[in-house]
Amino acid sequence: MKNYDSIQHVRGESQFIDDLIVPEGLLYISVFYSPSAHGKIKSLDISEALSVEGVKAIFTSKDIPGENQIGGIIQDEELLAAEIVKFIGEPIAIVVAVNARTARKARNKITVEIESLPVITDPREALKKGELILPPRIFSCGDLDNAWTQCDVIVEGKTESGGQEHLYLETQGAIALPLEGGGIKVYSSTQGPTAVQRTISRVTGLPMNKVEVDVLRLGGGFGGKEDQANAWAAMAAVSALILKKPVKLILPRQEDMRMTGKRHPYSSDFKLGLTKDGKILAYEVIFYQNAGAAADLSPAILDRTLFHTTNSYYIPNVKATGLCCRTNLPPNTAFRGFGGPQAMFVIESAIYKAAEQLGVDAYEIQRKNLLNDGDQFPYGQKAINSHAKVCWDELDKKYDIGKEKKKIEDYNLKNKVSKKGLALMPVCFGISFTNTFMNQASALVHIYSDSSVGISTAAVEMGQGVNAKIRQVASEIFSISIDKVKIETSNTTRVANSSPTAASSAADLNGKATEIACKNLVERLKNVAAEILNVQDHDKISLKDETIFYKEIKTQIDWKDLITNAFLKRTNLSAQAQYATPGIFFDKEKLKGKAFSYFSYGTGLVEVTLDCLLGKYEINYVKIMHDFGKSFNPIIDKGQAEGAIVQGIGWMTIEEVIYNSEGKLLTDALSTYKVPDINFAPKEIEVNFLENSFNPMGIFNSKAIGEPPLMYGIGAFFALMNAMKAFRPVKGYKFSAPLTPEKILLSLYSNIKEPATSPT
Ligand code: MTE
Ligand code: HPA
Ligand code: MOS
Repeated sequence: MKNYDSIQHVRGESQFIDDLIVPEGLLYISVFYSPSAHGKIKSLDISEALSVEGVKAIFTSKDIPGENQIGGIIQDEELLAAEIVKFIGEPIAIVVAVNARTARKARNKITVEIESLPVITDPREALKKGELILPPRIFSCGDLDNAWTQCDVIVEGKTESGGQEHLYLETQGAIALPLEGGGIKVYSSTQGPTAVQRTISRVTGLPMNKVEVDVLRLGGGFGGKEDQANAWAAMAAVSALILKKPVKLILPRQEDMRMTGKRHPYSSDFKLGLTKDGKILAYEVIFYQNAGAAADLSPAILDRTLFHTTNSYYIPNVKATGLCCRTNLPPNTAFRGFGGPQAMFVIESAIYKAAEQLGVDAYEIQRKNLLNDGDQFPYGQKAINSHAKVCWDELDKKYDIGKEKKKIEDYNLKNKVSKKGLALMPVCFGISFTNTFMNQASALVHIYSDSSVGISTAAVEMGQGVNAKIRQVASEIFSISIDKVKIETSNTTRVANSSPTAASSAADLNGKATEIACKNLVERLKNVAAEILNVQDHDKISLKDETIFYKEIKTQIDWKDLITNAFLKRTNLSAQAQYATPGIFFDKEKLKGKAFSYFSYGTGLVEVTLDCLLGKYEINYVKIMHDFGKSFNPIIDKGQAEGAIVQGIGWMTIEEVIYNSEGKLLTDALSTYKVPDINFAPKEIEVNFLENSFNPMGIFNSKAIGEPPLMYGIGAFFALMNAMKAFRPVKGYKFSAPLTPEKILLSLYSNIKEPATSPT
């Protein structure tokens, strides 16, 4: 069950874009980008750069053969800025040279004169200036006005959650090769081969059938390569086509950090109403999403925020407003959780504040309001088979939350400046692309005449182990050794019109397509076996451990014989199949429907220790009870949970993306942008698999695992808040993430009374 890639990774044998053996005459790109966050390009001087020896060409917007447009959902993003620049890091010109160093050297000689325009970095200010990318989107249910009158307690407040740098180990990159007949082949580090193909087709003017995109694997994507791999591949493709030479573009780390978008920072207003015994009756929230300078995936991300407004809770009266605010930052983009975590942070903050008001622990309110079977989400879907309470209760049973709480109280009594804090974090995450049509995938399975198997899907391996899972699917259906199955690259010529590997759905969608294709082949093979055995009832034939069984009795025919015979009998040994998730729909006018195929549930328990003199802290443990469905690769799934938890904690604690008021990224290197390392990671992570969970909607009854556990990280924020309160028990610590050591120190020793703001 291990992830086969890890052996190659450890040996350094796995290939990434920068490891591919390159063709002769390869040229390299360096990108010249805007030094100004908003302004009009008055002049661009490339003459000095052009005279650098080894420079082959410099391209600007005027040289783009097709459309200068790479916007996916909304057409509002140029590949190369033509007249107006909208963020620092926006590409303006492409320098192509004989090697990377020369390209960069020449790039640094380009000068641009920009007439400044006003810069907006804050989403609330964007709203005031009318800079909305979309009309406000509102999810609502129940009767909010009436509900407020029923509440005993109403709390209001404001939250801030920050951005997050993807920090995939492999930076963005692509290699483009011109083909005969004017076509192009591109190797891209992308989660979405079809998105890259479509973008290249648009900017080059070539039909999609002349653009082949191939992806071997990624050194991480985390959402950062769902949409934002397109530009770099397009630049390489345009250059290769014009120069008729192979061209490579690899972003250096700092340029990657400056030029690409991140997780969306959100600013939010909430109002939560409860009965005096903690039942939540009403919730109103406004999400100000900092989209950056172009739409990118922001509208879809805002949708997922709205879908996750109420996290794991049943709330009968809700109004959630999503505002997609245009600012002069690099366009923010998909990041593990895709807007869901931002919503969950707000409801958890609201509950925390309500608990302060009611004088109870937040987890009493949390537990009381968890989804029951059949409870409805604000958008109309019901929580069928809700495992929200089971996960919570099983966690409690295993770790005794009351006892843990008591231990902490004792510790805090004994220690003056070191304080511990505990928090619970329930998670309910919807599985499916919220855009229904994207929930499809296909697979192409070949059985070669030597009986080995090759599988192509659009699933992109980026460390999450999807290839190992698809291998398992084929090996299981054919009942052959996993060593007989090879996963091919994700290639648009073999698998067309694919959705990106995203939404945690790659194993489900591509696994199910593979399952169908393999089952079709098994049917054909059973017919062949029946012929060889000279029997009529081919349904009595089965394949087990590379042997053919008839009426449960072992025959003399093994898998290899069967394939040889099938081939000689001219049986079609290739199958292609498509899978489309059944039963999901969403009415985009009414904003109601069954958006998700199923939900992933769980509860996490987080404990921290805070040094209240220094503001430093440690995450002692994260213990989760998570619903994996019936996991068919527990090692990979556990690894996904651990990685996601640490990434979620990073987002909530030490990872701080800072732009100054001119829109310049100040945290553009690993000396200024801190991510969890092994010392910062929780001392203990215990991942428990909820028992007796089956999920027919997932591949082999499993549940998607890529994103949901990230949100347990939110528990670290509230555990730290509790530790702060143990040291200085005041109300009104700000709900402002990330909760860095600096912020904690400032909060602990300053006057932090926060005025209540009301949603308007
Ligand atoms: N795990 C690793 N190691 N590297 C990644 O880039 N991306 C995450 C998650 N786990 C990622 C990862 C994200 S954002 C998603 S959507 C899922 O993997 C996508 O893969 P899946 O659909 O196969 O779960
Ligand atoms: N999740 C992740 N990526 C996506 C989605 C989604 O719901 N929709 C479009 N891209
Ligand atoms: Mo993941 S954010 O859906 O790539």
